Amino acid sequence: MSEKMSRKTSRKKLSVIGAGNVGATCAVWAAKRELGDIVLLDIVDGMPQGKSLDLYEASPVEHFDAKITGTCDYTDTADSDVVIITSGLPRKPGMSRDDLIEANTKIVKSVAEQVAKHSPDAILIVVSNPLDAMVYVAYQASGFDPSRVLGQAGILDTARFSAFLAEAIGCSVKDISALLLGGHGDDMVPLPRYASAGGIPISQLLSADVIEQIVERTRKGGGEIVSLLKTGSAFYAPAAASVQMAESIIRDQKRILPCAAYCDKEYGVGGYFVGVPVVLGADGCEKVIEVELNGSERQQLETSIAHVKELSKA
Ligand code: LAC
Repeated sequence: MSEKMSRKTSRKKLSVIGAGNVGATCAVWAAKRELGDIVLLDIVDGMPQGKSLDLYEASPVEHFDAKITGTCDYTDTADSDVVIITSGLPRKPGMSRDDLIEANTKIVKSVAEQVAKHSPDAILIVVSNPLDAMVYVAYQASGFDPSRVLGQAGILDTARFSAFLAEAIGCSVKDISALLLGGHGDDMVPLPRYASAGGIPISQLLSADVIEQIVERTRKGGGEIVSLLKTGSAFYAPAAASVQMAESIIRDQKRILPCAAYCDKEYGVGGYFVGVPVVLGADGCEKVIEVELNGSERQQLETSIAHVKELSKA
């Protein structure tokens, strides 16, 4: 048989827009998990092509099957099942995520328009900052049903919370279960009452002071990385979180994950995207779960929601 074997596949298609640190790392995690064929797109000619070829050349070592395409052309992203939007500027030391709003609104708007044109049935996962406002921009620019537009932040922030808890308790990160609500800003709302290690509430394992310090460190977790890196922001954990969302959608896992999702009556938000626990499956956000909150938790969430609304309206 001398003819080349057919290269047609029925694999899912995942496009990642922006081949910088977050985008390229998303491609690596997604390839390793064999989520499907991957398209990595960037405006810088040669960069997505080079990174994609390099990643493909890792596949015989890492044992994954995936076609990996690097491109500057949105037609290559056509008919994607999931699109992760990482485009935009990262912050530098001294900047808040909100300082990026002007530049990144323009970028995310034009990306979402292109994505919607070529992949009208895709589910969008937005990673660009300021996150909750950028999800709103992508929702408006794509014209998609809000259930098919999500933002990645809650998994990242919860992962930071969980990592710090595991370190303080001296246990495996695998035994931590935690929850965090609200916008992806320093007023996010980690919920110690909903955190446990091996099923044991953390209040039985850590003092109130230590828990409060971990909550504060979690809120400022993004800034901690920015001040260490000096030239940009975090990318390993944000990419891992984005790929976990993509996996739950592509494999229809229906995982309960904290994501920036469209909330209208839920939590009294009134039509904005904000971090809440959702069931994530083949239809995107299949359900927003409302959890019971005490007075102080509710107040913190309201402050965070008010901030998200203000930014989204900007
Ligand atoms: C962070 C940035 C990426 O939280 O938002 O690290």
